Amino acid sequence: MDRSQETAGREPQEPLEYQTVDLGVLVVGAGAAGARAAIEMVEQGVDPEEVLVIGKRSHGDAHTTWARGGINGALGTQDPEDDWTIHAADTLKEGHFLNDPEKVERVTKEMPGLLRELDAWGMDFSRTEDGDIDQRYFGAQSFRRTAFAGDHTGESLLDTLVEKAQSLSIPYRENVFVSRLFSAGDRILGAAGYDMDTGEFVLFEADVVVLAAGGYTSLYERHSSRDDENTGDGPALAYLAGADLFDMEFVQFHPTGMVGDRYGDQWDGRLVTEAVRGEGGRLYNSEGERFMEEYSPDQMELDARDVVARAIASEIDADRGTENGGVYLDIAHRDRDFIKERLPRMYERFAELGVDMATEPVEVAPTAHYGMGGVAVDKAGETDVDGLYAIGETMAGVHGANRLGGNSLAETIAFGKHTGVAVAERLGAGAVPAVDDGTRQTRARQHFADLAALTNSDGTHDPRDLLDDVRSLLWETTGIRRSGDDIDRGLAELRELRQAADDLAVGDRTSESFEYALDVGFALVVAETILRGARKRTESRGAHYRTDHTELDQSWQRNIYAARDSVGAMRLRTEPVGTPSEAVQDALDADHELDYHQLE
Ligand code: FUM
Repeated sequence: MDRSQETAGREPQEPLEYQTVDLGVLVVGAGAAGARAAIEMVEQGVDPEEVLVIGKRSHGDAHTTWARGGINGALGTQDPEDDWTIHAADTLKEGHFLNDPEKVERVTKEMPGLLRELDAWGMDFSRTEDGDIDQRYFGAQSFRRTAFAGDHTGESLLDTLVEKAQSLSIPYRENVFVSRLFSAGDRILGAAGYDMDTGEFVLFEADVVVLAAGGYTSLYERHSSRDDENTGDGPALAYLAGADLFDMEFVQFHPTGMVGDRYGDQWDGRLVTEAVRGEGGRLYNSEGERFMEEYSPDQMELDARDVVARAIASEIDADRGTENGGVYLDIAHRDRDFIKERLPRMYERFAELGVDMATEPVEVAPTAHYGMGGVAVDKAGETDVDGLYAIGETMAGVHGANRLGGNSLAETIAFGKHTGVAVAERLGAGAVPAVDDGTRQTRARQHFADLAALTNSDGTHDPRDLLDDVRSLLWETTGIRRSGDDIDRGLAELRELRQAADDLAVGDRTSESFEYALDVGFALVVAETILRGARKRTESRGAHYRTDHTELDQSWQRNIYAARDSVGAMRLRTEPVGTPSEAVQDALDADHELDYHQLE
């Protein structure tokens, strides 16, 4: 079955010009996952000339740079009793056992070694007094296992990887938008897109495609990413090429996003790193109450993100929020020097906004931060489409119903490496079957004809407005709390937006409106998976909280998959979750837990 057929199937009226790039491996996305995968391929012997990493933005400016507080790995430099099995147990427990245990084990087992490797590559980790990699507390983790570089861990990680990739001469192309992947007979054929600077169409004839294009939380009104990233293109591209998605209803709301009404719209939803709470920050409502004592007396501000986010939302709803619609986060009981050393970027940012974190609290409220759902892959990161891999936030399986802070960067590195090894083995073994180039060219011409028809189209609707409509819709109907009625309303509104999306006013291919028009297409696909998954899951678990089904239901320990059928319709199915290994089950049985009060 070929599920990737273009539905329009338009044949070009005039000959279309496009550039063709012939490659072994195309890596779509230049953040930590894509960079780590490309590095591994080349270290395993793939000729760098066979690899191309492409990104929508400038080199070194990927969404990874916005990851702040840390990267997990049970090194035990602060708490020697920690080990990878306890890391795996914490990940499964806080994922409410919807995670794929095999993937969790892959990540947690290898992270100590991978952190050492990053250290050897020059990453500027913060240090313990005796010079080892330091580790801090992060939410719902039994021990201090979050390694960090101040509060700019993602930036530091990406700098390290970019430098390493450059030392291996791995080619990179910036400002390219990938608008479609092609597959035939469940075999990947390559990708197509356009150069955002020149508008030129580009066909990448690649035997292997690695999608490392991020997640989908920018499709929520309040989100922690840049507006034009994490718009769901990674999952949507894979889905349209015939891969399955799952767990899409699980959207993580980070408890502490900046409050726009207090700091300005451009800051609305931007992250105040969990490291503030990991270093002792406390939450207060407008009545001066440290309200986490009510919601989670043992783990307090460092309970899992879903718990803390819902607690903050409840305080705001009960009129105990600030006049700007947030609550207070206060770390002023720590020394100024401590704050400047451990949280330098936060300190500077708030200082520029006229707030002194050493003497006063900041205002925060929940913000959409991470999609636990994504593309279904095997343990090497490969989808059901032969030769198509998905890693980083684009894939699903590691985090279950709720992700631990610090596990996303860990996943990018661990799966980046595994996929790199798998791709190198595949190319080394010559296991790539020959592809009929005629199919690629035909598909590409059809797709470019669709893009040409969209260019300078003078329809009614501004794509940016439609994207904002999707954001409001998802925020209102599948936010921190959702009900069956909300979701039904969301599905009905989505149908209207889909109609509007057929009638867009779009500029040329170098315009923002052209990019937004394509984003709208991806957003509509992803929004449907979120809404339908949330509708089907009649329970509350982790980040998915149904006000009409408030309890966890054991019979729902299943993942909800979304697949595209041969006529382009979305079909849902459920599948059971695997079981952990004996070693991890032992760690689960030992019932380790964060002892928050050590921080006080
Ligand atoms: O709050 C933070 O620094 C976020 C980290 C993460 O999501 O892993």
